[in-house]
Amino acid sequence: MNDWRVPGFTSTGSKRPDALFGTPARMTRAAGCRVWDESGREYVDFVMALGAVALGYGHADVNRAATAAIAAGVVGPLPPVAEAELAEALAERIPWLERVRFLKTGAEAVAAAVRLARVATAREEILGCGYHGWLDWCQGAAEGVPAGVRNLFAELPFNDVAAGRELIRARAPRLAAVVVEPVVVSEPTREWLQMLRVETERAGAILIFDEIKTAFRLAIGGAAERYTLKPAPDLVVLGKALANGFPLAVVGGRADLMNAANRTWISSTLATEGVALAAARATLEVFERDGVCEHIHRIGTRLLPGSPASPRCVSCITRRRICRGVWRCAPLSAASCSSARPTTSCPWRTTRARWTVPSPCCMRPCARFRRACTYSRAGRPRSLR
Ligand SMILES: Cc1ncc(COP(=O)(O)O)c(C=O)c1O
Repeated sequence: MNDWRVPGFTSTGSKRPDALFGTPARMTRAAGCRVWDESGREYVDFVMALGAVALGYGHADVNRAATAAIAAGVVGPLPPVAEAELAEALAERIPWLERVRFLKTGAEAVAAAVRLARVATAREEILGCGYHGWLDWCQGAAEGVPAGVRNLFAELPFNDVAAGRELIRARAPRLAAVVVEPVVVSEPTREWLQMLRVETERAGAILIFDEIKTAFRLAIGGAAERYTLKPAPDLVVLGKALANGFPLAVVGGRADLMNAANRTWISSTLATEGVALAAARATLEVFERDGVCEHIHRIGTRLLPGSPASPRCVSCITRRRICRGVWRCAPLSAASCSSARPTTSCPWRTTRARWTVPSPCCMRPCARFRRACTYSRAGRPRSLR
């Protein structure tokens, strides 16, 4: 196989070997919480498609809905009934999604939210906090982004009330939107979230929550639900776990802002493809029926060292209950729960309470850990399936 046919090794940058584990580099299939590599080796997966899968790979209910949508023709010349039905179901469960539009990727959906904010405010500048995808509007330093576009964007630091307030106030007359990932490694403080709400209102700017990692994980409605932000963000963006791995993203929020979609142009040929819409509907039902977010929270809390629910260190829990391989057993479900990003501290060598997710070094064989690692079938983690 030629690796150079796909520049950078893979089309999903965060799956390139140096971003994750090094080896194995490619997989052939996945089921539940397990993944098989090219040589047939089996792994317990805590990455779960970079957070795009929360119910487990190939969840039966989701597959059943997707299969029915395939049998129904996948896509057609008219908008599908499933689009309106899913919009209704989401609005019922997440009331601040008064109107929604569907797209295929998170990056597109956040870009759509930004466009809608610019339409609503007739302003251009954006403050962003976190990662919002690869598109031009938020790529401060990337080559190939026009300087004019780059200059319209600036970073807002996570959880820094004073700096955030100052940045918003300084740009107030030109500021269209503040786009934030509400959880970046650690949880946000109430003061920071409240500052964002108050200051954007004061500045006449739109508050956009990029809930691509947090919705269908912290809570079905993401951080806005978990931290009960009132009033809710003006616009929110959902993606990743929303359709349990089928490609779908949502931009939604206040009706007056979303209705501006009629005045600008936001559209994609396959945004209304029926398989992902059906998968999302089924995913939502499973999340509600099975209390999935509560389960993720429970498991994540047990894996996080130093938490009251976890008197033992994370590596002991992992050895005893989850471990099958070496790097394969790094507890990223904790990361799923807290939506954290890799840190540089290694949980196998240090069990510091500030640890959130394993660093790449933990993904490689660690001699001390390998010796201690025994896998017990009876001790398998409870699956959601
Ligand atoms: C918070 C957040 N926003 C936006 C994106 C971009 O989504 P996508 O990769 O589906 O375009 C990601 C992807 O990791 C994300 O985590």
